[in-house]
Amino acid sequence: MQRCLTLTVARHSRLVLRNKFASARHQQSAAMSGLLINQPKYSWLKELGLSEDNPGVYNGSWGGSGEVITSYCPANNEPIARVTQATMAEYEETVQKTREAWKIWADIPAPKRGEIVRQIGDALRKKIKVLGSLVALEMGKIYVEGVGEVQEYVDVCDYAVGLSRMIGGPILPSERPGHALIEQWNPVGLVGIITAFNFPVAVYGWNNAIALTCGNVCLWKGAPTTPLTSVAVSKIVAEVLEQNNLPGAICSMTCGGADIGTAMSKDERVDLVSFTGSTHVGKMVAMMVQERFGRKLLELGGNNAIIVFEDADLNLVVPSAVFASVGTAGQRCTTTRRLMLHESLHDTVVERIAKAYKQVRIGDPWDPNTMYGPLHTKQAVDQYLAAIEQAKQQGGTVVCGGKVMDRPGNYVEPTIITGLAHDAPIVHTETFVPILYVLKFKTEEEAFAWNNEVQQGLSSSIFTKDMGRVFRWLGPKGSDCGIVNVNIPTSGAEIGGAFGGEKHTGGGRESGSDSWKQYMRRSTCTINYSKDLPLAQGIKFE
Ligand code: UN1
Repeated sequence: MQRCLTLTVARHSRLVLRNKFASARHQQSAAMSGLLINQPKYSWLKELGLSEDNPGVYNGSWGGSGEVITSYCPANNEPIARVTQATMAEYEETVQKTREAWKIWADIPAPKRGEIVRQIGDALRKKIKVLGSLVALEMGKIYVEGVGEVQEYVDVCDYAVGLSRMIGGPILPSERPGHALIEQWNPVGLVGIITAFNFPVAVYGWNNAIALTCGNVCLWKGAPTTPLTSVAVSKIVAEVLEQNNLPGAICSMTCGGADIGTAMSKDERVDLVSFTGSTHVGKMVAMMVQERFGRKLLELGGNNAIIVFEDADLNLVVPSAVFASVGTAGQRCTTTRRLMLHESLHDTVVERIAKAYKQVRIGDPWDPNTMYGPLHTKQAVDQYLAAIEQAKQQGGTVVCGGKVMDRPGNYVEPTIITGLAHDAPIVHTETFVPILYVLKFKTEEEAFAWNNEVQQGLSSSIFTKDMGRVFRWLGPKGSDCGIVNVNIPTSGAEIGGAFGGEKHTGGGRESGSDSWKQYMRRSTCTINYSKDLPLAQGIKFE
C-alpha cells in the first residue's frame, strides 16, 4: 500500500490544522455544530454509541485526553464527529492494564476463549449493516464493501471458534527410549495491531479473532483518518467482554498517529507487532521491532497483476479486471494495478474494459446502488494526478478516465493507461488509486517474468484454460506472490486462506490456514519418563 510516511506526515499536519479548526468550532455552541452526526440523516451513528466527541482510548474504561481529531467524510469532506486520541501517559497505562488482563485471559481454556470470540462474531452480526454504513461514511468505500469487510470479521470469528479446539502441536518420535518429544504452543502475550484506513474493520478482525483464540490480549491502533470506526468496533467488542465479566483490557485501543505506532514498535512489552500499511512505514516498523528482537507480522504494499492468455474466457476476464481495479476505488492492497494482455486480444479486451468502466455507477458510497465512491483523502487525489502525469511522460496513453470529477468529495475517474513499457518506473510504483496500467505481452515466459519483476509480492492471477500453464504458474518458476490465483481477480481473498505476501509485501500471513502460528510461540519439550539418562546422538559422557 502506498501509505507512505510523507503521507502520514502530511495527514498529520492536516489533522493538526483540522484540530485547530475543530477546537475553534468546539467553542461554538453545540447547536451550531456542523457535524454530520447531528443531522437527522446520520442519526443512525448513535446506534453505534458514537456522539459528537468520542473518547479514543479503551482499556477497560473509556478515556483519552490527547489531540482532538475530526473525522471527515471523503464523499463530501464534511466533518462527521470528533475523537480524542491517547497521550503517551494513556498509552503507558493501557499497556500495563492490557498485560494485567493477559494473566486472566491466558488461564482460560482455548475452547472457552473461542466461545467469547463466537459472541464477538454474533455481536458484529447484529450491527453489520450500521457498521458497514459507518465504514462507507468514514472510509468512503461503497456500502456493500463496508458490510463485506464486517462480514470478514464475522467469518474469521467463526473460523477462530473452530480453531480454538484444534490448535496444537505434534508428538514426535524420540530417538531415546522412555522419552517423549512434544511440541507445545503458547500465546506470545500482547499483540499490537496497527491497521490502515482502507480496511478499518476486517484487518483488525483477522488479527483480533485469531490472536484472542490463541490466548493473547490485543492493543489496537487504527488509522488516524478512520477513528470513529475504531471506536465503534471497540465498543462492540468491549460490551461482549464486559458482559462476560472479563477485563475489557483484553481488547484495548489507543487512537493516535505515528507517536503511538512508534511506541508500540519499540515497546518490549508488545510481543508481536502486526502492521498493515505502506512498505515505507512497514520497513521502519520492522527495523524498530527487530532492534529489540521482537516479533512482527507485516502486510505491506502490492503491485498486483492479472495476466490474460490467448485462450482465456473473456466473459470472466472483463468483470474480474473491472472489480479488481475499480473496486474500493483502487484502494485495496490486492487491487489489480497491472493488466497484462496477450497481443492477440489486447485491443479487444481494452475496448471491452473501457466500455465497462463507463458503466460503473459513481455516487454516494452509502447508496446501495453505487459501485464506485471517492478516494479516502485529498492527498490521494493529488497522488492520482501526479501518477497520470508521470505515466504520460513515460509514454502512456490515457484511454479512459484521467480526471478529477467535478463534484464535492475526493472523486476521481477510474483510469486505464496503455502503451507503457512493462518496466516503466510508474508501472513499478504502487499508487494507491484507481489507475490500471495495461501491458501487451507475447509469451508465457515474458508474462511470468513481468509479474515477478516488481518489488512487491502480494497477489497475482492468470486467465487461461491450459492446465499445464496453471501448474507452471503455481510452481517454482511461476508467480512469486503470496496469493496466486487462476481465473479469478487478484482481490477479494477468502478468510480461510493465509493472507499476505512476499518480498516488499513483508512476508507475514494473517487470517486462515496456519497463520495462527504467528500469534504463538513454539516450545519443543523432551520429557524423560524412564529411569535412565541416554543422551541424544548416542553420546556417552561418563
Ligand atoms: C487489504 O487491502 O488490505 O483480498 C486487504 C481482499 C480483501 C482484503 C484486502 N479480502 O481484497
